[in-house]
Amino acid sequence: MFSEIREGTTKLLVPTHFTKSIFYNPTMELSRDIDIASIAAFATLYPSPSLTYIDALAGTGVRGVRIANEVGLRVTINDRSMPAYDLIQRNIALNAVEERSAAYNEDANVLLVQTKYDLVDIDPFGSPVPVLDDACKSVKQLLLITATDTAPLCGAHTGSLRTYGARPLNTEYHAEMGTRILLGAVTRELGRYEKAIQPLLSYASAHFIRLIARVERGAKKADESIKRLGFIAHCFSCSHRFAFSYADMLDLNVENTCSLCGKKMRIAGPLYIHPIKDKGFCEEVHAELAKRRLGKKREALKIVNTCIQELEIPFYYEHHALCKALKIPPPSIPSLLDALRSNGFSASRTHFSDTAIKTDTRIDELKRIVKML
Ligand SMILES: C[S@@+](CC[C@H](N)C(=O)[O-])C[C@H]1O[C@@H](n2cnc3c(N)ncnc32)[C@H](O)[C@@H]1O
Ligand SMILES: [Zn+2]
Repeated sequence: MFSEIREGTTKLLVPTHFTKSIFYNPTMELSRDIDIASIAAFATLYPSPSLTYIDALAGTGVRGVRIANEVGLRVTINDRSMPAYDLIQRNIALNAVEERSAAYNEDANVLLVQTKYDLVDIDPFGSPVPVLDDACKSVKQLLLITATDTAPLCGAHTGSLRTYGARPLNTEYHAEMGTRILLGAVTRELGRYEKAIQPLLSYASAHFIRLIARVERGAKKADESIKRLGFIAHCFSCSHRFAFSYADMLDLNVENTCSLCGKKMRIAGPLYIHPIKDKGFCEEVHAELAKRRLGKKREALKIVNTCIQELEIPFYYEHHALCKALKIPPPSIPSLLDALRSNGFSASRTHFSDTAIKTDTRIDELKRIVKML
């Protein structure tokens, strides 16, 4: 049994009741709305004739069909489940986008090894790692990746070292740590094919992480990307933390005793420690969101707007936890941001958490300023 629904300006048949063989998650409409705006922004900023896009793990085909219908790209939509493949074909027909859509019932890895696509989208259950290698081999211009295995990525469970070759720490900024560990793993995978990464928009929401990143060819550029990996040292005693480069780690140039309280610091990584977004790109995405008819427009605008304002610092401070540790009532976030700025520091909100802030202040100075409020 199927029901007809609408996302954006696209009509879709989706299973009326949950079924394992055809996956449709209505809560991911937010990420699909941001994708539509992001791909439209990419096509405007990096124009190239007849871009090709693959939705390699498509379920109902919702992402691919929406991109064919709402952005006008040539799309390949694939799922290895036969009932999903049948539904993808029906959804293509329902929107009359047959001319620019091809449906496949293949293993994603097989398809990605055989053909190069300008835009490669992998939206799995859990980890993207089983298809990451072939996605990196196939992609020419833009990689879109979801991960829903946030527990291991963010340090709540073990398994990240095995799956992503990196160690997270379960800190207050775990959502950002997971995002950066995933970006680090993608950077290394692309590097194997002499491809470089430029993150355009990376965000985490409730139960998933989504990366949208430009890809360019060239060993030299790929080497530059790899240099953007590093580590974060974190003190669980006083909350001091700092990022440092891979080169510093390899040369053992890192002090692992906390300079503020003398306790041993723990190290997370390797992870991507450079900017995880491109401000100009995010502004274009914001403009695309604003002019489109989208079901999750308000939430999507909020995420992208916060990403635009967000400082490029690889961690954040949970403001309630900070005030609890200091045994003081939490001041409002706007008053804290103002106080930091008027003391000469940079400060912003973060899309990773409504109750956190980013600042270039060291933790001891941050505590001093919070106590004065
Ligand atoms: C999370 S669902 C996709 C959801 C969809 N992209 C959306 O936005 O609603 C993942 C899909 O990948 C398919 N899948 C998993 N591994 C695959 C593989 N190796 N090759 C092809 N399809 C695969 C599953 O059948 C499932 O439909
Ligand atoms: Zn310390």
